[in-house]
Parts: sequence; structure tokens; C-alpha cells
Amino acid sequence: MSAELHPGSRHPIPVRHPELPFDESIPRHFANGNPVASHMFNALNLTFPDGERFFIRAVNDHVAEIEDPALRQQARAFAGQEAVHGREHERYFDVLRAQGYRIDRFLDRFRLFGRLLDRLPRSVRLAMTAGAEHYTATLGHFALSDEKVQSFHPTMRSLIVWHACEEVEHKAVAYDVMQASGISYPVRILGFLLASAALLGWAAAGCRMLLRQDGITREERRALQRQLEAEADPELVEYVRGQLRAYFRRDFHPNQVDDLSLAHRRLAEIERLRAA
Ligand SMILES: [Fe+2]
Ligand SMILES: [Fe+2]
Repeated sequence: MSAELHPGSRHPIPVRHPELPFDESIPRHFANGNPVASHMFNALNLTFPDGERFFIRAVNDHVAEIEDPALRQQARAFAGQEAVHGREHERYFDVLRAQGYRIDRFLDRFRLFGRLLDRLPRSVRLAMTAGAEHYTATLGHFALSDEKVQSFHPTMRSLIVWHACEEVEHKAVAYDVMQASGISYPVRILGFLLASAALLGWAAAGCRMLLRQDGITREERRALQRQLEAEADPELVEYVRGQLRAYFRRDFHPNQVDDLSLAHRRLAEIERLRAA
């Protein structure tokens, strides 16, 4: 299995251990008081640890056959970053439990879903991982660019910015491993479509579950969603739409968007705040 590592993929991918202070100061609706925005993030958060362990398994299943030592090293660093993400997000689960949210049945079902996906051919699992990583990089770019995220509760802002920064740092790894493995365009697109359905389906189900536990009715939820849409930065919304379309181009590569300096600038901001 050989292919040149993309020239934009040669930067270091450090594994950081932020050990964030998850405590009772975090409000239930940490996203500037908006329950829908808070629970959209919370629902994604519920899928991260097992989702990321699925990504690690999918990439690891191909690592032994990668000839380029630089890409092998990138794949190890990718696994290191994703493993820490999973652990840190699981620490946050205890905050949700302490706030009274019943999340464990959802987590059990999602874990079972991951085990079922493990039965898919390894090429499809890797293509799903590369597709899901395009979502995390695109949503990460959104979170790093959106000024509203910068006024969330400081611990949650740190969690989101740190994770988003590392998603941007390693956004090309699964894709480069997929290219090196010779996975075809139809399988790449199949993986993206499966990842889209899984991500959007579980995130929507998790968000509705948490809003129901808050006693928020469907009408209230719709009104809050409309408010969020009205307040969203149209340029960022168009960026996300454009990136999702871009994945269908045959010559697509994640590094065609250069957002590493944005990621590092935001990370430096939260590190300065934490040190103050
Ligand atoms: Fe991650
Ligand atoms: Fe990732």
C-alpha cells in the first residue's frame, strides 16, 4: 500500500492532555442559555467517545500495510488524539448525569450500533471514518470561526476549541490512509453517505431526547431552532454547505482548506485564558 502523503499533511499532530475542570459551575444550557444549541453539542458529545474508537479501529486496520513512514506516524498520532478526545468527553458525561440527564440507555444503544458497523468490510469502515472526519473538521472550522462559541461557559468553550483544533490538525489522516489503501471513488462516497446518515440520525435523536428531559415541547423546540437559524452567520452556514458538496469532487482533499493557523490561534487564546 503506497501513496505520497499530501504535502499539506506533513505538520506535527501533538497529543495534548487538557484535563479540563468539569464541575457544577457548568450550566445546563452552557451555549449562551440556548437549550437547542447546548443539546446539539451535547448530543454530538454523546456520540464522540464510541464514534472515535470506531474511527481508531478503522484506521488501525489499515496501518500495517502503509509503506510511507510519515503517514504511519500520522496514523498513530491520529489514534492518540482521538483516544484523549474520547476520555475527556466521557469525563463530561458525569456533568450531564449530575445535572439529572438520563443518558446511559442512549450510550448503550450507540455502542451496540458501533459493534454492528464493525461487521462492515474494512474499506467501508475506513471510508465512513474519512467521511465522518470531514464533518468533524468542517464543524470544527465552524466552531473556531463562530464568535458566539467564544462566549460559551469557559470550560465548554475550552472543550470545543481544543477538540475542534485537533480535528483540524488531523483532518486529512483517515483520508490519506484511504487514498493510500486505493479505496475507489464509489466506496469513498458510500462511506460519506453512511457517515452522514449515522451522524445526523444519532445527533438529532440525542438532541430531542435531552430537550424532552428538559420538558421542552416540540413547538418550543421549533421556535428555538428558528431563533438559532436567524442568528447564524450566513457566511459560515454557506461554508458548511459548500464543504459538504466539495466532498463529492473527484479531486477533493481535506487540505484544500487551510485552517491550521485559525485553529492554533484559537487554541492559544484559550490557553492564555486558562493561565490567567
Ligand atoms: Fe476527535
Ligand atoms: Fe477526528
